[in-house]
Amino acid sequence: MAPDLEPPTKQRPIKIPELQEMKRRGERITMLSCYDALFARLLDASGVDVLLVGDSVNEVLAGADTTLSATLEQMIYHTQMVRRGTRHALVVCDLPFLTYQVSPQDALRNAGRVMKETGCHAVKLEGGLPIAETVRALASAGIPVMGHLGFTPQATHVLGGHRVQGRDPAGARRLQEAADALQQAGAFALVLELVPTPVAESITRQLSVPTIGIGAGPGCDGQVLVLPDMLGLNESFSPRFLKRYAQLATAVREAVAQYCAEVREGRFPDEAHSH
Ligand code: KIV
Repeated sequence: MAPDLEPPTKQRPIKIPELQEMKRRGERITMLSCYDALFARLLDASGVDVLLVGDSVNEVLAGADTTLSATLEQMIYHTQMVRRGTRHALVVCDLPFLTYQVSPQDALRNAGRVMKETGCHAVKLEGGLPIAETVRALASAGIPVMGHLGFTPQATHVLGGHRVQGRDPAGARRLQEAADALQQAGAFALVLELVPTPVAESITRQLSVPTIGIGAGPGCDGQVLVLPDMLGLNESFSPRFLKRYAQLATAVREAVAQYCAEVREGRFPDEAHSH
């Protein structure tokens, strides 16, 4: 069935407990990465539940090879823009590499800055057992935390690149234990990235907080994709799990080529576009 293209009329802010209620009701959660106010307005009006200001911004918009060089200032800047464009969706900001791994106190200072300066609703950080204590410190201070397990892009060099995690029984067990520890530490949801479908299903069943999958199969409580990837703007990235819902790179190239041709041939601006 074709989706309803009218923006939803019910535009009320989504609160964190609602995500947990959605899990209980078996309603799937939708999340997309977003980096600016222009797209935030479009996504918000389309009814996405969660906008993630991912540190993927450093790769897909800033052109770096990894997320590792993303800075706190960069994340604050993009999150401020996204918040300006959002009325309905929950806005989550990624804490970048080395802003939360040094110590729980350091994490608290940096996460607190993000919350105060951007008005976002939550932060996301990567990793399992080693950061459970930090998750507890943030959650106890009133900062909602989304966890991120499986392939964690900030550990790309350690993990040997973009690879599925938890394929063998020991790896799957480690993921289960980490998920449990993050939930106990107070995480309100977990992203599962590049995890085999049965492992993601089992973690999702085991937890009372929702799981949001990317490359983790259909058994998670929600799904997330990186916006420029799913819109077909980032043509160099085409993993198996990615579905392109539009071909915007082609549309942009065609529009710009037509504009250049019309300017060069003196067809733009015509009378209708002149004063
Ligand atoms: O940075 C990001 O966009 C992410 C998603 C891949 C979940 O963390």
